[in-house]
Amino acid sequence: MSDITNEIKKRRTFAIISHPDAGKTTLTEKFLLYGGAINQAGSVKGKATAKHAVSDWMEIEKERGISVTSSVLQFNYGGFCINILDTPGHQDFSEDTYRTLMAADSAVMVIDASKGVEAQTRKLFKVCVMRHIPIFTFINKMDRDAMDTFELLDDIEKELGIATCPVNWPIGSGKAFKGVYDRQKKEVELFSDTQKGTKMGAVQTISEEDPMLSEVIGEDAKALLEEEIELLDGAAAEFDQELVSKGELSPVFFGSALTNFGVETFLKHFLVMTSSPLPRMSDHGLIDPMKENDFSAFVFKIQANMNKAHRDRIAFMRICSGKFEAGMSAYHIQGGKDVRLSQPQQMMASERKIIESACGGDIIGIFDPGIFSIGDTLTTSKEKYAYEGIPTFAPEHFARVRQVDTMKRKQFVKGINQIAQEGAIQIFQEYNTGMEEIIVGVVGVLQFDVLKYRLENEYNVEIRLENLPYEHIRWIENDEIDMDRLSGTSDMKKIKDLKDRPLLLFVHEWSIRMTLERNEGLKLSEFGR
Ligand code: G4P
Repeated sequence: MSDITNEIKKRRTFAIISHPDAGKTTLTEKFLLYGGAINQAGSVKGKATAKHAVSDWMEIEKERGISVTSSVLQFNYGGFCINILDTPGHQDFSEDTYRTLMAADSAVMVIDASKGVEAQTRKLFKVCVMRHIPIFTFINKMDRDAMDTFELLDDIEKELGIATCPVNWPIGSGKAFKGVYDRQKKEVELFSDTQKGTKMGAVQTISEEDPMLSEVIGEDAKALLEEEIELLDGAAAEFDQELVSKGELSPVFFGSALTNFGVETFLKHFLVMTSSPLPRMSDHGLIDPMKENDFSAFVFKIQANMNKAHRDRIAFMRICSGKFEAGMSAYHIQGGKDVRLSQPQQMMASERKIIESACGGDIIGIFDPGIFSIGDTLTTSKEKYAYEGIPTFAPEHFARVRQVDTMKRKQFVKGINQIAQEGAIQIFQEYNTGMEEIIVGVVGVLQFDVLKYRLENEYNVEIRLENLPYEHIRWIENDEIDMDRLSGTSDMKKIKDLKDRPLLLFVHEWSIRMTLERNEGLKLSEFGR
């Protein structure tokens, strides 16, 4: 096996998904602590600034700065080289959040034990399912009063439609939290909250057989544990690596990120159960990083620098195969020519660093002179294959854009198209109404502010946004549908995208079902290809 294949095999590239406040940042910090990447927990990002409501540009820039710098973290642990892709939460939730998942080989889902599955987790989870990537669940905050454990698992199974397999099982929660029971080793890992912020301190375990157990965790807790495990052994799905790899079964772990309990146990199991960089589909078939020696990568995120003085952009790419070396050239499939990949960067905790080399599984940022688009492929292979494109994700907020000064139509069209090309917004047009107005769709409302600000500052165009009540968009998958005859609901609006493909907007979710019922054979999709 070549050196490079060996290096790629060590890679574990995953995204962390959660609803804001479930503990994603805290868990990430603890991971980094184990990797020795940071000395002290608390340095991943400035939470205080991240929580502000955003109105002026400086704040947006700060916000974006935070989400960029913490977007990819690399560290080594137990012989693995780990790349964590952060999926920004809070107000800066945007299409980028979804696209990040396209670059990962698996996902870690953090759930607050007192809340169960929440809205944002549900949305991100759908993308993981679409990609069939392995999903691992970390049920956090066990040191606080939690929902009933069976109910939590039921919630995941019902809400997300995935089977669960608890690797360990909590003994109580909140003040009565005693630790977790390891189902395979048949021993209890005892909870201690004295390890806040440190990685030291041996984990204390006690066997199920040990007569001291009932003394340590209490007679009642032991009896309940025995009862629950018996129930669990009879009812829960058995661990099956193949189903995990296909994303059909999620191994579940319990812990408390804040007190650093259960984090290392999770990490150890996860690194073994998850996969090294996966093959990716291209127009020349599957490209397997274990067989393909040439460098190949695809762009999944473009970050425009907000500094007006130098409008540079960084294209983030996921390396799929081979080795990257600073300054090398690769063929840009969509541009049809060789390009030099300069100023390669990698994000480490809160700073960017220039890198010399990277390999399949890694994420790098490259200086983009304005030639890359989301989904583009770069490769040194003679085969010149292109990776499958990145789908367009459904925006949830829509607004009609009005220019204040109609004389500036040209700048307006140029600006809005460029911002759309970076993937921050999606633009649509009215369908057959004769109106030239543009409708913008965004995944997170912050993008409306970004659009307004950037058009004013970079293109000198002032706009007004008129919010529209639609929340659901569907692409029409069948070509033969006659749009004029399509009969929908009263809250439905027909629009088209820039490629003239028809789409439907709905205010209410139930209208989608009704429209499907009224039009036989109609196929609607949440993702645009
Ligand atoms: P996020 O990135 O998913 O948004 O969540 P984050 O890690 O920032 O955690 C949200 C809040 O929950 C933080 O408290 C954090 O300290 C707390 N937290 C995380 N993990 C646990 C846990 O295992 N147990 C308990 N009890 N709390 C946990 P905060 O007060 O909002 O912020 P901070 O001032 O502590 O930073």
